[in-house]
Amino acid sequence: MYQTLLTSLQNGILTVTVNRPDKLNALNKEVMHELDAVVTEVENNSEIKAAIITGAGAKAFVAGADISEFQGLTGEEGKALAKRGVDVFFRIENCRKPIVAAVNGFALGGGCELAMACHFRLASENAKFGQPEVNLGLIPGYGGTQRLVQLIGKGRALELLLSGNMIDAQTAAQWGLVNSVVPQEELLNKVTTLLQTIISKAPLAVGKCIAAANSAYTSEGYQKELDGFGECFETEDMKEGTTAFLEKRKAVFTGK
Ligand code: COA
Repeated sequence: MYQTLLTSLQNGILTVTVNRPDKLNALNKEVMHELDAVVTEVENNSEIKAAIITGAGAKAFVAGADISEFQGLTGEEGKALAKRGVDVFFRIENCRKPIVAAVNGFALGGGCELAMACHFRLASENAKFGQPEVNLGLIPGYGGTQRLVQLIGKGRALELLLSGNMIDAQTAAQWGLVNSVVPQEELLNKVTTLLQTIISKAPLAVGKCIAAANSAYTSEGYQKELDGFGECFETEDMKEGTTAFLEKRKAVFTGK
């Protein structure tokens, strides 16, 4: 049914695996479209009580938006690409059934943003988190500047956003980005066990907890992020950053 996702439904829990392991599960347009469709499936299928999002292979959860799709976009096109992701991730965040990220490796850029859009996150010991967009002359475009501040606080969020540095799973747990860290082979079992507890509770109450927790935050910052993301596409540095990545060389930024 899906081209870029694997899905499996067991005992009310749908496991969704982003399945582009040769590209470290990078989010291209098709993955984004299918994630949107999978949220609709979770919402509409009464047999699905909860979902897990994870990545294929042992190396990556999702290593970001697919950088190869950024090349040659205008500012407006860049903003439209980000808006699409923002909308899909809002749907995940606002789904009344729990959606949990099982972060099994790199969660960078759009991957970290996808994990943060889920209701909470568990990570394997090898997981790594970061928002490396500055390396590309970009900023996060799928809500990363907002949700990172919400989850780990402004100081730590800005350290990650401005440096592009990655943190390991233990640090992510200490900083509140993930709830716990488990050996990779136990990750899906651990998330499943937790979700079995959650889906044994009153579904309407569970849905209302999610909605109430989400309403603790406003949405103005998302517009600021969208504008900034689009504006980056008009810069030389963004073209240089993305080209350098695809050419496997170090970017030389000029501030233009
Ligand atoms: N978009 C497109 N392709 C990506 C990608 C992304 N975000 N992340 C990884 N890939 C591709 C690589 O280009 C490579 O493809 P190839 O084999 O056709 O050359 C493949 O996935 C494997 O990645 P590679 O870089 O060779 O693995 P690595 O182990 O040397 O490095 C990372 C792993 C995660 C450190 C590195 O892939 C990386 O920095 N990725 C980009 C992260 C990023 O900037 N994300 C934010 C995007 S907005």
